[in-house]
Amino acid sequence: MTAPVPRQADQLTSELLARVDETISHYPVSKRSAAVPLLHIWQNRFGYIDENGVEWIARKLDLEPINILELITFYPWFRQTPPGKKTIRVCRTLSCAMAGSYEVHKALCRAAGLGDNHDEHAHEVTAPDGSCTIEFVECLASCGSAPVALVGDHLHERIHSADAARLLNSHDDVRGKTFRAPHPSERRLILRNVGREDYDPSIACYLRHGGYDSLKKAMAMKPEEITAEVKASNLRGRGGAGFPTGVKWGFIRREDGKPHYLVVNGDESEPGTFKDRYILHEDPHQLLEGMMIAAWALNVNLSYIYIRCEFPEAARIMEKAIAEAREHGFIGKNVLGSGFDCDIYVHQGAGAYICGEETSLLESLEGKRPYPRIKPPFFPAVFGLYNCPTIVNNVETLCHVKHIIAIGAAEFSKLGSAGDGGTRTLCVSGDVVNPGYYELGCGQVTVGQLINEICGGLKPGRTLKAIIPGGSSAKVLRADEKFKMKRKGEDGAETTVEVDLMDLVLDANSLAAAGSMIGSAGVMILDDSRDMLWVLNNINEFYAHESCGQCTPCREGSLWMSKVTTRMLHGDVKPTDAAQLVGIADRIAGRTICAFGEACSWPTQSFVGKFREEFSPRGS
Ligand SMILES: Cc1cc2nc3c(=O)[nH]c(=O)nc-3n(C[C@H](O)[C@H](O)[C@H](O)COP(=O)(O)O)c2cc1C
Ligand code: SF4
Ligand code: FES
Repeated sequence: MTAPVPRQADQLTSELLARVDETISHYPVSKRSAAVPLLHIWQNRFGYIDENGVEWIARKLDLEPINILELITFYPWFRQTPPGKKTIRVCRTLSCAMAGSYEVHKALCRAAGLGDNHDEHAHEVTAPDGSCTIEFVECLASCGSAPVALVGDHLHERIHSADAARLLNSHDDVRGKTFRAPHPSERRLILRNVGREDYDPSIACYLRHGGYDSLKKAMAMKPEEITAEVKASNLRGRGGAGFPTGVKWGFIRREDGKPHYLVVNGDESEPGTFKDRYILHEDPHQLLEGMMIAAWALNVNLSYIYIRCEFPEAARIMEKAIAEAREHGFIGKNVLGSGFDCDIYVHQGAGAYICGEETSLLESLEGKRPYPRIKPPFFPAVFGLYNCPTIVNNVETLCHVKHIIAIGAAEFSKLGSAGDGGTRTLCVSGDVVNPGYYELGCGQVTVGQLINEICGGLKPGRTLKAIIPGGSSAKVLRADEKFKMKRKGEDGAETTVEVDLMDLVLDANSLAAAGSMIGSAGVMILDDSRDMLWVLNNINEFYAHESCGQCTPCREGSLWMSKVTTRMLHGDVKPTDAAQLVGIADRIAGRTICAFGEACSWPTQSFVGKFREEFSPRGS
């Protein structure tokens, strides 16, 4: 007996059904990988996913309904009940909160008839007349133009409480797009075409600017020469861990007879980081060119770009760019007549920060709950996608590859500092006059130069209190801290010098020596108006919300820290709180499956450790 076809599936048009089949064809190794994309198709069509959707998708992919249900209940993006007609997602994470997103959220709720009685921390509320659903979401990777909200598919930047009615009632941008000329200190490679009025993401425009010349040059080189060049360039991954890219590529044995995969990490969710979205939106072919050079070097025939679903426009732009590049023979069968084949597909995430962790991303791409894998043995270069050798690289990292081939490893390396070659995009948010993205030679600026010369200084009348240099996971650095740095003299002898925060060089080695990290280069500036308990509580809420829950110390500890700082913020501060917070954090770090454990502990350890007075009962 055949099972009855679920009712809602009758309402899928033939065009949508064709899209479903086309989507499944993007995953020739395992159609389970199409689970999240099919959930997106269903939710976009019906607004939410009920049991008919679960059963229909399960049947389509030869899975059990529980395999689909476990995804819906994990990923925050998916709904099991209908939303309002319009969905507004307001960012509640640090840079937006500092710029007033809580006030915007409140104004929106009031304008939608929700009054002041709703729970501010409820992640979703729907207006009584069903006209809209307002959600508080985590960082939308636009921290430099905070506060921001995603209305439907459209990102609105620099919003104010006074914009509430307009956000609810119209589709127009509340602020127009602003173009900013690069600062004279910048050395733009990656961002050369980003934020330009005279540039568009089409292949015609890209080709007019020398596009795909590096791919042509690379395909005339031996693959191992490309890897050697990337190694010599001293390029370090721009996703957060800073691993040398050429060394990582060197783990792949081209001729081992196994399929190899290249997966681009476009999940960009680390609070304070906002560079990849601009590249995807404004210069998509730059990424494709870098990917194809990598694919040739690593013998990859199938590659995916994992893009967080909060970037719906980026996914569409990338898909269009892939189609254009395929038409021009840069992607697909017989690339540039070489006999080499490589397909590239876009894969959208579903709203979970943990999917930025590379092994979680691969689980997600395989259509499973994105629980990070244990390393060892699951280093992606050995056991990656579908258990085959896989290189996972950040969007910005792969874009650099094009420039390494164009200008050569030696020139590229010279743009940066020792062991940290090239340029990198510093994303500056928080309390400066000109927040934004700045592409600078690695290690070519100090904290003081960045704040005062490049970002226009602090806001009038304010003094610096602290910086978080590499995304919210990085340990905070106090304005009055002194750091011991090793310096080599002209005679090669090493001496130790003491350096102020303002003289601290912003690169991987210096920040590691200062006890923090460059991480994803999301530099958040905090001035003397900031209450560190409030700041840490915002960060703790983020991590408590985003823990995947696989390890007990992280699942329980991140929530516990958040509950303690929330209570303290409401005025109930106990003399034992500071020690308890640090005690919880100390018991998470180093005891978990993935580095999220450290990421959620470091803020508490450093904020409480360095601003103890703000975590003690007032007057004690
Ligand atoms: C909790 C967590 C979140 C992460 N989020 C991202 C991310 O959003 N984007 C990214 O490129 N890397 C992220 N990473 C780092 C990736 O695991 C991985 O190191 C990176 O994608 C490798 O690319 P790269 O070598 O080019 O930097 C994250 C790591 C952790 C532990
Ligand atoms: S450390 Fe946290 S995020 Fe990472 S696997 Fe464990 S529970 Fe999940
Ligand atoms: S976009 Fe809001 S904090 Fe990043």
